[in-house]
Amino acid sequence: MEIKTALTYDDVLLVPQKSELKSRKETDVSTQLSKNIRLNTPLLPANMDTVTESQMAIVMAYLGSIGIIHRFCDIDYQVREVKKVKRKQNVVIDEPFTISPQSTLKELREKIIEHNCQSFLVSSDGQNLEGIITSRDIDFVKDENTKVSEMMTTKEKLITAPVGIDIEKAKKILSDNKVEKLPIVDGAFRIKGLITATDIIRNYNNGHASKDAKGRLLVGAAVGAGDDYMERVKALVEAEVDVLVVDIAHGHSVNAIQAIKKIKEAYPSVDVIGGNVATAQGAEDLIKAGADAIKVGIGPGSICTTRITTGFGVPQLTAILNIAPVCHKYKIPLIADGGIKQPGDMVKALAAGADSVMMGGQFSGTEETPGPVLSYKGQQYKISRGMASLTAALSRPNAKEKMDQVTPEGVEARVPFRGPAKNVINLYIGGLRSGMSYANARNIQELQKNATFVRITNAGLTESHSHDNQVL
Ligand code: XMP
Repeated sequence: MEIKTALTYDDVLLVPQKSELKSRKETDVSTQLSKNIRLNTPLLPANMDTVTESQMAIVMAYLGSIGIIHRFCDIDYQVREVKKVKRKQNVVIDEPFTISPQSTLKELREKIIEHNCQSFLVSSDGQNLEGIITSRDIDFVKDENTKVSEMMTTKEKLITAPVGIDIEKAKKILSDNKVEKLPIVDGAFRIKGLITATDIIRNYNNGHASKDAKGRLLVGAAVGAGDDYMERVKALVEAEVDVLVVDIAHGHSVNAIQAIKKIKEAYPSVDVIGGNVATAQGAEDLIKAGADAIKVGIGPGSICTTRITTGFGVPQLTAILNIAPVCHKYKIPLIADGGIKQPGDMVKALAAGADSVMMGGQFSGTEETPGPVLSYKGQQYKISRGMASLTAALSRPNAKEKMDQVTPEGVEARVPFRGPAKNVINLYIGGLRSGMSYANARNIQELQKNATFVRITNAGLTESHSHDNQVL
């Protein structure tokens, strides 16, 4: 048997090209995530339960990327997370939250936390508008039993707008009346929507964000191929998710192929990302099943032990190089998932043929990841874990296994707390733009066209890192 050599990021470097770029600002890093979704930022956080829920997804969409809500939770929870993102930047909120006038201040406070929302329309039956209450109305109220009806702005004093009002008119009403919320009502004063000044400002000032046709932030969600996956897909599509990821550890399987086919048959207009695979044949089979993007990576992840537990995997650079020609042939984008430790790795992944990269470890420990910030020996940290780790397997909603029956293919890790996720994006996009100037590339296609890799030795790798000094 001929055994081929396979390489990963640290095995290679890109050779500098004569550059005609005068500034890194001349580079365009926008990319195709999937057949129908374009992003201004070509990296996204992993769909892991210690990385991506709504908080991360919202920040990523503002930064031109997208978050894929993980699937390791029950369907209702995942749908709620998707809805939180879709509601965040919504010029017209179709179904605003309401609260009863009989609710107490204590209940209102609970609702504010539950929905991460500072104002509520007041209605006894959820339909007829009786007033509005915002966090400002409760600033000086001390008695937790005070009723919403005693604190709200009442119906008579409300500024409202009719159904179908255009945004320019809404902006004028908001600014003329110096109000921040504009309930939309029909002739019978029934609630038909809500426009908020914050959403308008965000929407108009942020052309860089990832948005759908209605101006709402983009969000994705992962599904599996197990018993309830079509029920999950239906609920997510009803919540208006923008893209689905069929997230299977060994994506080159009849289960994944079947799942992609069934989802595309039922919901042809929703983009479906298939994965993970590490071979050209794997990618081609998923594309033929209907995948709108391919996620590549078997075992390169920072918390993965698949290669150690099973002996299977393909070093990530070779996996990308082998799969890129198939993806390009079918015009299906490639997402390089896992194994990225520094910005240069992302540049190499894109240069090798990826259209975007997914990172778990590099986002873990950031403020927007789920889970608390913990303290140990004076250091702040957060927990990150592989989705096939022991604790992840045991904490699944319907976990049937017991501790001694799980064969982990991932580990749990303590990662230093590292502040906002936008710092990660800034660092990586800065590295990418610099890298593109070394490649004389104005966009990612040119980076791929101009890329020349050299294979390096261990001595070359040592030389690449800072050496022979005490790093401060
Ligand atoms: P990084 O290196 O960015 O990789 O942390 C993130 C990717 O790792 C994959 N993943 C796993 N792979 N066992 C595995 O073999 C696991 O438990 C596991 N959990 C996540 C996943 O593709 C993720 O995006």
